[in-house]
Order: sequence, then structure tokens, then C-alpha cells
Amino acid sequence: MVTIAVDGPSGSGKSSVSKAVAARLGLAYLDTGAMYRAATLWCVRTGVPLEDAAAVAAAVRSMPLVMGVDPAAPGVTLDGEDVAAAIRTTDVTAAVSQVATNLEVRDELRRRQREIIAGEGDSGFSGGRGIVAEGRDITTVVAPDADARVLLTASEEARLRRRSLEVHGTADATSVEATRDQVLRRDRDDSTVSTFHVAADGVVTVDSSELDLEQTVAAVLTVVERAAV
Ligand code: DC
Repeated sequence: MVTIAVDGPSGSGKSSVSKAVAARLGLAYLDTGAMYRAATLWCVRTGVPLEDAAAVAAAVRSMPLVMGVDPAAPGVTLDGEDVAAAIRTTDVTAAVSQVATNLEVRDELRRRQREIIAGEGDSGFSGGRGIVAEGRDITTVVAPDADARVLLTASEEARLRRRSLEVHGTADATSVEATRDQVLRRDRDDSTVSTFHVAADGVVTVDSSELDLEQTVAAVLTVVERAAV
């Protein structure tokens, strides 16, 4: 069973690239960021104030979350409801750092992530050929023993352009500016708990600034092949 770990900052393309790599290799796929988003939505929906760290941690420990691991349709089910779209709203995006920087929440979600990666979680994934897991602390904390570990980077300009296209459907100057604050603030907040800008020992950096999706996928597949997975 192989584990491929991919991390990187907002807009580096890690989700699209990880899904494509998983599909190409016939592996499962885990989006750990979606788990932090689901935790945020869960607290909002159950009326837990995000500034109450202990209450947030308790709520997350009892969160009924099931992560789908099919790279073609990675569902996120919270208390029996499909929340794949609800966790991507601007409200959740704006609030998620507050939950993702809660250390007890991180302990709980990392435990669940390790379980899923090991094929022991509630996800319907029972190991199989292996998994591509992506998220900011995957290569360093969650799966430091992964068979291949990639840090996907991109210049600030490229990251803002991609996020703007994703959120506003265009990358004109006004839309890119509107995106700047959100992306850079979130990266700054998140960087207080994980060091996703610098490759740790044994982690291979792939810079996607000048690459399109297909070229980035090819570059990651090369890293995987070199790791003799
Ligand atoms: O990748 P994303 O935008 O869906 O991530 C959502 C949030 O969760 C973001 O603030 C980064 C954080 N995150 C984290 O702290 N650790 C992870 N392994 C994955 C995401």
C-alpha cells in the first residue's frame, strides 16, 4: 500500500494535482483541508462560538464526519448530509483558520487522518492500493513516512491568479486584488501552526508557477516514480 503526501500553500494547485495523480495511479484521495472546513461548518451549525477553543475542540471530537476518498467524487458527509459545497462558501473559508489553528482540533483531525490513510477510518477506504493525501502538514506531521512527499509551491502572483479564477471566474486586476487579502491572510494565520512553505528533509519541491495542471501532474508523477513507489 502506498502513501503519497502533498502539501503547499493556498493556490498552489495541490487539490487539483493530488486528485489527478490519484486518478492516474488508481489510488484513493484524501483532502485534509476539507476536514478542517467541515469542522468549521459543524461548529457554526451547532452554535459553538469559534473563539471558545475548548468548546470547539469538544464539538470536533464528536463530529460525525465521513470523508469520501474517490478522487473523481470525493464526498464530504457531515451528520449524514453531503456538505461538499457548503464547506466551500466564503463564510467557511473566512472562518476556517480560527478552527485550524486550534491545537486540540489539530490533534483530533490528525488522528482521524492517520486512520483514514492507514485504511482504518470510517471512509469506506480499506487500504487498497494506497492513497494520495493532501494538506498543509501532511508531509511533515500526519504522514512523515509517506513513500513520496511533495511540496507544491507557486509564486505569489500565480497563486493569486489561480484563486481569483476559481472564486471570481476571472483574473483581472480588480479580482486578483480582492483575492489577495484572503489568500495571504489565511496563509499567514495557518503558518502559525504549520510550516508548509519550506520543504522538510526528504520532501521534493515542485514549483508550478510556470506549469499548467497537466505539466504539474507529470512533474509529481516523476517524483513518485523516482521514489520507486
Ligand atoms: O486547503 P484548504 O483551503 O481547503 O484548507 C482549509 C484550511 O485548513 C486552511 O486554513 C488550511 C487548513 N489546513 C490545515 O491547517 N492543515 C491541513 N492538513 C489541511 C488544511
